[in-house]
Amino acid sequence: MTPPEPDLHPLCNSADLAEGGLACPFDVRYQGQTCRAFALRWRGRVHGYVNRCSHVAMEMDWRPNHFFDLTGLHIVCASHGARFRPDTGTCVGGPGRGPLIKIEMVEHDGVVFWRSQYSLRAIEF
Ligand code: FES
Repeated sequence: MTPPEPDLHPLCNSADLAEGGLACPFDVRYQGQTCRAFALRWRGRVHGYVNRCSHVAMEMDWRPNHFFDLTGLHIVCASHGARFRPDTGTCVGGPGRGPLIKIEMVEHDGVVFWRSQYSLRAIEF
């Protein structure tokens, strides 16, 4: 799949991300460090974040790719329960110390892409 723009990176098929379902994981270079990231679908749109809690810089999913709380309204960190809006990453409860690190996501022709930016790059092999 050729990305529609040079800074877009193909991630998965649109159909792989069910509404309120499991996230799709991927790796990025964020500020020079290799980090896990994830994309999920909420209210019809795909949202992506670096998998790093704003409370303590650790991954948030104890069960791989499970990020929604039981209500399906928030992303929840499994460590201490910080909650975040799925569409903006804003912290709305718990011990989080700010928003999640958002990654711009684009859907095009049934494919989900993430967009690299200055501090967020693709892993080079
Ligand atoms: S590490 Fe996420 S709430 Fe503490």
